[in-house]
Amino acid sequence: MFFEVAESGGSSLAESHAGLDLQSGRSMKVVELYAGAGGMSLGLRRAGFDVIRAYDHMQCAVDVYNRNLGYHSIRADLGDVASIAPEISKLRPDMIVGGPPCQDFSPAGARIEGERANHTRTFALYVCSAGPRWFMMENVQRARNSAAWADAREMLANAGYGLSQIVVNAAHYGVPQKRQRLIVIGRRGERDGFLLGSIQEAASPVPMPLRAVFGDQLGDHVYNHPRTPGRRGVWSVDGPSPTIRNARRPQPASYEPHRNDSNYNQVTGLYFRPFHDARGVYSLDEPAPSIVRTSRERPRSSYIASPHPDDPAPASAAYVLTQKDTARIQGFPEDWDWSGCTSRDIDQMIANAVPSPMAAALGREILRRERGESHPGVPGNFGQWLAKEKKMAPQMVANTKWRVKRARQLLGGRDLQCQGAESHALEAAFEQEGLAKGTRSDIRRALRQFREWQEQM
Ligand SMILES: C[S@@+](CC[C@H](N)C(=O)[O-])C[C@H]1O[C@@H](n2cnc3c(N)ncnc32)[C@H](O)[C@@H]1O
Repeated sequence: MFFEVAESGGSSLAESHAGLDLQSGRSMKVVELYAGAGGMSLGLRRAGFDVIRAYDHMQCAVDVYNRNLGYHSIRADLGDVASIAPEISKLRPDMIVGGPPCQDFSPAGARIEGERANHTRTFALYVCSAGPRWFMMENVQRARNSAAWADAREMLANAGYGLSQIVVNAAHYGVPQKRQRLIVIGRRGERDGFLLGSIQEAASPVPMPLRAVFGDQLGDHVYNHPRTPGRRGVWSVDGPSPTIRNARRPQPASYEPHRNDSNYNQVTGLYFRPFHDARGVYSLDEPAPSIVRTSRERPRSSYIASPHPDDPAPASAAYVLTQKDTARIQGFPEDWDWSGCTSRDIDQMIANAVPSPMAAALGREILRRERGESHPGVPGNFGQWLAKEKKMAPQMVANTKWRVKRARQLLGGRDLQCQGAESHALEAAFEQEGLAKGTRSDIRRALRQFREWQEQM
């Protein structure tokens, strides 16, 4: 299990992509569309990608992006495909990524597909025109069944992309937030579903709790380890704190809240303004709900008078988040420079972002596959099918599955759509490895059987 906690700092250009070169000897070049304040770019950079260009039409998002990630974000209306597509093609990106606007799909929005939903089709147009090896698109779950995504999917499949489409929960990818998002990763020439196993395996078995981020500091409070047990440990950063003698350390799980702690009334619950009749108060031992622009609003008197029955603490005593807190939950470093924007715009940019640890986790799986370090899995029911349909004994089933895995290694993790291309690549790998004739024909036969099973599925 991993918990990648959002690092503080580290947003400078210098940290960019140390030690992450590919077999080709260079980092993969990425263009991000609809880049906002840079959550997705930050995560991809941390995974080892080289984000060379970003686009957004909101000036303050472009300014925030540029100040924190380097001056390569451009203000542009991506609806103007005829002007921007040739520019992107010239950059020859290895991957195009983006989270097209989701308000027209979002449960918080009008649910009518309109102008903004159309950007999902526009995203596909950019991918098809530049033809990068990879793309990744993020959107709300609801987009899955939209007419816009159906059109986009068809364009991408016709252009030769195999698609891995999955709804992921950010809480299983290093983010203390139950944020369900549609992720579609495409690679040219692959079979559909080629990366699903790797994405599922990268998920942590348990969701990340808020405590993983706020364990020792919640908003404007800081933990100073008390010198004597039973003394106060949590202090406001705005007030005087005790003499610090190596006292800064993470708050231990065993720390008993003290009634004089500056956040004493707050640690029992955190308030996230809910939609409709959803729950508002959350404990530190669970992930936050999905962050939206209004998450950090104070509880209204109507909620306090009629709280959700599952609240773990009274809303009136719950901690109300600061903007810094919501930014941290979304994976932005504490020193992210948001200056020059209105508070409302900052809340919107934070809410819009792809949490950077999640983008990093997905990016790492793409890089591993690109480098041939991961392979598509061989599902267990293939073995059952071999036993039933091919009347194979258990040892033979195991051998056949092993040979399919070996074929996938020889193919560098590729799961090629075109059978001719696959056979050609396999024969080249046999030659390179100098495999014996018998081994080659065993592997060929196992792969044929695997494809037969796949067709029947
Ligand atoms: C869901 S947010 C993307 C957030 C970003 N992926 C991140 O991780 O921070 C969608 C973005 O699309 C931008 N946008 C909406 N319509 C646009 C258009 N016509 N041209 C360019 N950008 C647009 C919005 O300003 C917003 O920043």
